[in-house]
Amino acid sequence: MNKHRIMIVEDEAIVSMELRYMVESMGYEVAGTASSGDDAVARANELVPDLILMDILLQGDRDGIDAAEEIRRDKSIPIIYVTAFADDATLQRAKITSPYGYVIKPIQYKELNTAIEIALYKHRADMQMQGHIEKLHKTIEGIINAMAKTVEIRDPYTAGHQRRVARLAKMISEHLGLTQAEVDGVYMASMIHDIGKLSIPSEILSKPGKLSETEFNILKIHPESGFEILKNIEFPWPIAEMVLQHHEKLNGSGYPSGMKGDEMLAGARVMVVSDVVEAMASHRPYRAALGIGRAIEEITQNRGILYDPEVVDACIKLVNTPGFDLNTELDK
Ligand SMILES: [Fe+2]
Repeated sequence: MNKHRIMIVEDEAIVSMELRYMVESMGYEVAGTASSGDDAVARANELVPDLILMDILLQGDRDGIDAAEEIRRDKSIPIIYVTAFADDATLQRAKITSPYGYVIKPIQYKELNTAIEIALYKHRADMQMQGHIEKLHKTIEGIINAMAKTVEIRDPYTAGHQRRVARLAKMISEHLGLTQAEVDGVYMASMIHDIGKLSIPSEILSKPGKLSETEFNILKIHPESGFEILKNIEFPWPIAEMVLQHHEKLNGSGYPSGMKGDEMLAGARVMVVSDVVEAMASHRPYRAALGIGRAIEEITQNRGILYDPEVVDACIKLVNTPGFDLNTELDK
């Protein structure tokens, strides 16, 4: 088995040597050493060790906790603090960086050895768990894609519509600063927001002229049908609820429930605007594409009435970004 590579961050040369001696006699390899916070960050990126023993009080402006925070930002390397400090304020700061251990000086050989072994084991388990989560996400995405395709096969006029709405909704959500989990949820829900159209007769879906009132009332069932299809699946996001709400309006004039803006999920408010903008910008069986300009006019006129003002502002900002073209941007 390959020896685990451990990096030592310690500003006192004697302690650093003592640590090196201990680590090597435990059977590990010393990947490298650092004595300042900046040095620790640079060397961690360069060496990518299996574990870091991190002193807290270091030379320079950046202490061990700041360095750990920086390293954690783009590398998954377990860190054990090795320090003489155990006051409340230091512990609170250290805790936030999710360390894999905390060893108080003077260093005891056995205690350090146990801390390293546990940290390496726990980190391996965490990585495996992370892998499972990523796989699960991929599986969910695959299922969502398959579901999206089933609607598109039956309703070719909206083929691509859900995908384009999903991409626009994702961009708006990111622009609004929603969390990564919320962005993922909005994207997934938008990908299948019209799944309830599976229960609508295809004559209605592809009718070239304007729908009669009865036909329109039938079409309006699709958010509820979508909810029925999805409600028993335990997604990590409220997908069924967002699908149910994708035709609700801020002032309560939408369907099926006529709920008001603040009762709607934030994700659904993003979906409503994305859906309207994409639908107006593309071709429909009963009319030619109205264009992005007309779509922006619609959401501007009804900003704060039908559509969430923050979502509208974010959408307009995106559309006005130099080089943004709804079709090329969304068809990538
Ligand atoms: Fe819809």
